[in-house]
Amino acid sequence: MSTEKVSKDDLQRFDFTQEIIDSFHENKSIPVDFYNKDGQILIHKRLDAKPEDFTKLLKFEFQGVFFKKSDMDKLYAVEKVPTHVNGKAVSFTNILDEEKTKAQARLAEDLLLDLKKTSFSNNHVRSVQKSMDSMLNDFTGSDEYENGLINILDVLSGAGVSKQSELMTKRTVVAMGLKIRSKKALSKMDEKKEKKEHLNLMTASYLADVGYTKINVASSIDLTPAEYEIIKTHPIISYLMVANSSEMDYEVKKLILHHHRPHRGGGINNNFPADKFLVEKLTGFKNKYLNESDKEVAIRDIDKQIHEIMNHSFTSNTEDDIAYLSLASEYASLTSDQSWRNAMDSKTALKIILNNSFFSYSDKNIRDLFDYVGLSLTNNKSVINPGDLVITASWDSEKKIHFEICLIKDIDRFQTRPLLERVGSIAPMILKENKFIIKDFDMNTFKLDRRRATYNLMNSVDPRRVIYLIDPELNPKLHEGILKKLAG
Ligand SMILES: [Fe+2]
Repeated sequence: MSTEKVSKDDLQRFDFTQEIIDSFHENKSIPVDFYNKDGQILIHKRLDAKPEDFTKLLKFEFQGVFFKKSDMDKLYAVEKVPTHVNGKAVSFTNILDEEKTKAQARLAEDLLLDLKKTSFSNNHVRSVQKSMDSMLNDFTGSDEYENGLINILDVLSGAGVSKQSELMTKRTVVAMGLKIRSKKALSKMDEKKEKKEHLNLMTASYLADVGYTKINVASSIDLTPAEYEIIKTHPIISYLMVANSSEMDYEVKKLILHHHRPHRGGGINNNFPADKFLVEKLTGFKNKYLNESDKEVAIRDIDKQIHEIMNHSFTSNTEDDIAYLSLASEYASLTSDQSWRNAMDSKTALKIILNNSFFSYSDKNIRDLFDYVGLSLTNNKSVINPGDLVITASWDSEKKIHFEICLIKDIDRFQTRPLLERVGSIAPMILKENKFIIKDFDMNTFKLDRRRATYNLMNSVDPRRVIYLIDPELNPKLHEGILKKLAG
């Protein structure tokens, strides 16, 4: 045992904060020597501290524990956090305030309970608008709102609210993040117009699924055609609940009505449902309303919506908003517990969205999700990394689609625009269930590419688009199969 004694003047009293004790536990170390007030050693520093060492340290708390002033840095050494990921500036500041966000989720719960009993009133519109306004102000009021963490999963994990209000809150926050980050206001005028657009998108995200309060939803993954028909109808039901409100913006109603129709692609790259179903349903409801009193607002709105659908006259802004709402919905659903599976972590959810994106989202939509909010949803850990294998799709001049297997060589700022090395090609197995999906890739069609050409997707004229991450956990068979082929 050491008999070393330190002069009282060189000592400073140690403050037992939970944070610092936690960091000792986490690092399994006692980073400095600790002394009593007379400068006699109590506990030596240990880099492989055992639980009993911490117990011993805590025992001395009441009589006072001291450390050498010169050890200050070692004791309060802040863990170095990266300032950049993939060359992109990041911040570890949590943007969302825990208490405020929980309060929002509870408001959502109250609204849903209310809507089970009554219909949607102008009072509801006003209270939702107020709540969206404060959510937006809180978000943009944070110093780090452009790069900070969108800590919504952490905040809601212990909120103890119902699943539907958890989904509403998550969806609204993620859609808000997408909208804010992918837009930059150019002038004060733009700012005002954009704030209105942000609020419209948020209100629509919030209310998109209120239709479920009026219908019975199946809770299994294998939906019968009849059950799928009900699910397919829910945006219309949600829309009809708000259509007659004179205080709700036409744009909000439109976004709710179309919230699962994100991408009108060309040809095969398309899961966009036919307009016919929607127009027929809307016309049916309109005819019903013509025989009812006090439905003038809804009737006028339905007419306007039908007119726009028939003329395909959506602006690119509206199309982006619908995609953000749809992406935020998928993310919220994947990261929440469902009766048929547990909640997924954020990274896995993003991988699944990417791997199912080919028929449903534009290149830009996926880029906005990954490259503007992606890192903020995954504690600044990149989902796509150098060394990963991905599959890209590109169209040639004859509209033929090529699927290529590429190795990620480097990423400069944008995860979906990496530097690639082509290692082979492969054909997808496309299935049409309720929607078109890529079920898997067919190893029998694999062709090795010995030329190993490189492509930089940062170069905007390159037609390739990353559509699939060959993930060892999500698709171990494909991952292993391809590694074997590449090994020769
Ligand atoms: Fe929905």
